[in-house]
This record gives sequence, structure tokens and C-alpha cells, in this order.
Amino acid sequence: MIVSDLEPTDDLRGAARDRNGFHNARQETVLNFPRHFLWGAATAPTQIEGHVQNEWTNVVARDGNTCRLACDSYHRYAEDVEWLVKLGVKAYRMGVEWSRLQSAPGAALNQKELARYCDLLDRLKQAGIEPMVVLHHFSNPPWITASGGWLNRKTVDAFVDYVGKLVGVLRGHVRLWNTFNEPDTYASNTYLLGEFPPFLKRRFLAFRTVIANMGEAHERACRFIRAQGSEVGPVGVGFSKNWTWFHPFRNTTPWDHCLAAMCDAIFNQWVLRAFLGGRRKDASTFLGLNYYGRVRFANLRALVPVNGLCPQRLAGMGVVCDDMFERHPGGLETILKRLHRRYGLPVYLTEHGAASADDEFRARDLKENLAALHRAISHGVDVRGFFYWSLLDNFEWQFGFSKKFGLIAVDFSDAKLPRKMKPLGHAYRTLCQENRLTL
Ligand code: NOJ
Repeated sequence: MIVSDLEPTDDLRGAARDRNGFHNARQETVLNFPRHFLWGAATAPTQIEGHVQNEWTNVVARDGNTCRLACDSYHRYAEDVEWLVKLGVKAYRMGVEWSRLQSAPGAALNQKELARYCDLLDRLKQAGIEPMVVLHHFSNPPWITASGGWLNRKTVDAFVDYVGKLVGVLRGHVRLWNTFNEPDTYASNTYLLGEFPPFLKRRFLAFRTVIANMGEAHERACRFIRAQGSEVGPVGVGFSKNWTWFHPFRNTTPWDHCLAAMCDAIFNQWVLRAFLGGRRKDASTFLGLNYYGRVRFANLRALVPVNGLCPQRLAGMGVVCDDMFERHPGGLETILKRLHRRYGLPVYLTEHGAASADDEFRARDLKENLAALHRAISHGVDVRGFFYWSLLDNFEWQFGFSKKFGLIAVDFSDAKLPRKMKPLGHAYRTLCQENRLTL
């Protein structure tokens, strides 16, 4: 048995099934995580709440579904908190939906909707679960969309106004704020790839403008939030960068090298600079990282299931994928070390997960990624927490309900939308309780 001590452990035994409920290998390695490590789960309003009025309301996803009811968490949030408790998580990364709260530029916040979020936050508090609140997760109020969305500079002022009002009320409940979720995914799917409403393609200038405006809004929101502080502890604020590695599949195709380098320069390096470059770096107190894996190109074609390729066929080529992207656990250690060297900010893994009906595959994926994360911690990277994507099976944007990311299953074919713990949920619970992973 090998014990990796970030924290000493005294009670370790071998077993046919390991402590996390997974089949174990001959030799066990036990990885202890830092004492106050925040184990959590994540969701987003449009994906779980239902009854939203934003640019997604009328979108029909590829599987024929809409987000109109989603998991109906709008009404069932109390039950969802109970599921968080059953999972034993210490933290919940949740969104607050702007379109519910503000009906016009500068308007007062809707008190009824605010009260619902406050009730959710109170329930989390009673359960001892720390919230991390996301302010923008791929959706906008209709009046923002009508005035040009994030292409319009006035959206920056409108967002800062909204954040000011919201933070003024929620600072009594919240200390961890997440301004923007994956601005690169939002801007590229909306203006380059035609995947998010209004489904535009190849608008490179628009992509650039949206990122620049969001970067500015991030800085202003961070400075405001830090000045306000929080009544429940030291305030933290950051944004969540999706990190995807882009690589050529073969070494012998220079065009794939070029495409991969270009994607990295635009979606990774440039976006990071827009949020953390120059004096903006001092605005954030942490960096959120959403990490799923990589995209490899073969003759300019992305070798990923979201590009219409079959995961089994890709596996035959050595490209191991969930139902969406290639897995690349080693890349998590690399990017964590690199971001630590470059920015020196504490990091929260604000999302990682796998979409698959096969929970053994997902369990392996989770272990491999957590082992990589643990290696980064052992090398001095200050990682404060990990949020599994997702608490529930939910509405996966353009793909509808077809991608199963949940720790808890939701049966969308049943009008009652019953929830049920999955095997991975049980394993995650053990991890949260023991604060260690057995390999
Ligand atoms: C990133 C996004 O933040 C989330 O909304 C999405 O569901 C997951 N990744 C999985 O694709």
C-alpha cells in the first residue's frame, strides 16, 4: 500500500472493493486531500430550474427537448438540497438567473424571485453547505438579448448594476462568487460555431468584442464584490475558465498542428489575458477551472463525439471519450501547474465530470482526474475545492437531455421527474466523507 500524505492517515486496509466503492487494484494507493478541501457539486439555472424566460426558452435541442421544465428545480429546490445532503458535499456551485430578477435596465430586483433564492441559500446554510454563486452561465434577460447582448458595451454597465443590487442583498448569505462561467464557450458557441442562440457562425469580431466586454465586466464586478465583503466570511471572487487542450492527432500533419495552436491561442491564451491580464489579475481572488479534457485534430477534423463521431470508434483509435470529449487526466496536472506559475492564484476546480450511461467508466474517469489534481496539489498548487458536474442529470444545452452528467439520475420520461442516486453518487459520498481517494 502506498499512502500519499497531504494529511496523515492511520486507518488503511486493503479490500476487494476500495473505500470509494470502486473495484480496487492489487496495490492500493491512498491519496489524502487537504483538511479544508471543499468537495462539491455544480448546476446552472437554465439547465435545472425550468420556467425560465431567456434566449434558451424556445430552443429545441437535438434530442427534440427544451429547457422549459428541465429538472423543475424551480419548485423542487428543497428536495435538491436534500440530495446534496445525501451526497455529503460541503459546497454547492449554483447559479442565480439574471432574467428572473431584473426586468429592465437598472430596475429593482424582483422580490419574489429573490426570496426564493434566499430560501435556497438558507436551506444550504442549515445543511452546512457552502454556496458558490455563479452570476452568468450562458443566459441573459430578454431585454439584454434584444439590445445586442454582450456585443453592446451598455451590457457591461447593466451587468455591474445588477451585480451591485444582488450582492447588496446576498452578501449576508454568500462569500464565494463566480462572475462568468466559461466565457470562451459562450462566445464561441454563440458567434463562431452556431451552437447557442442566436446560432451565428464565423463572427470573429463578435467573439472578440464579447470576450473583451465580459473581461471588463468581470473586473468591475470583482472590485465591487471585494469592496462589499461578505457577512459570512472572507469574500472570494473569480471566473471559471474552461480549459480544453488542443492537439494534433498525428505528428506528421502540420495543418493539424497549426489548427491546434490557433485554437489554443484564441480560446485559451487570449481569453485568459482578457480576464487576468495586466492589472486585471489583481481583481480576482481565485481562478475557477472547468476541466474536461482535450480535442485532437486529424486532417482538420475534431476527433470528439460532439462532432458526430462514435465513442467506440474513437476508442479503437486510442481516443478515449465520454459522450462528448476526449478524456485527458494527465492534462489536468499540467494546466494546474502552469496556471499556478503564471498567476499564483488559488484555484477551485469549478467543474469536472463525464457524460455516460456507464458509471464504471465515469468512476475511472473521476479517479484518474482526481489523482492528477492531487499530484498538482503535492507540487504546491493551491487547489481549494472540486465541484462535480453535475448534481443532477440535466438539460445539456444544444444536446438536450441526452448527456447524462448527474451524480443523481432524473427520469425525464416520468412527469414527476423522480431523482435517484447513481452508483457514482454513492462513491462520491464516500470521497466527500473521508476526504481521501483510494486508487
Ligand atoms: C460546461 C458548462 O459550464 C456546463 O453548463 C455544461 O453542462 C458542462 N460543461 C458539460 O458540457
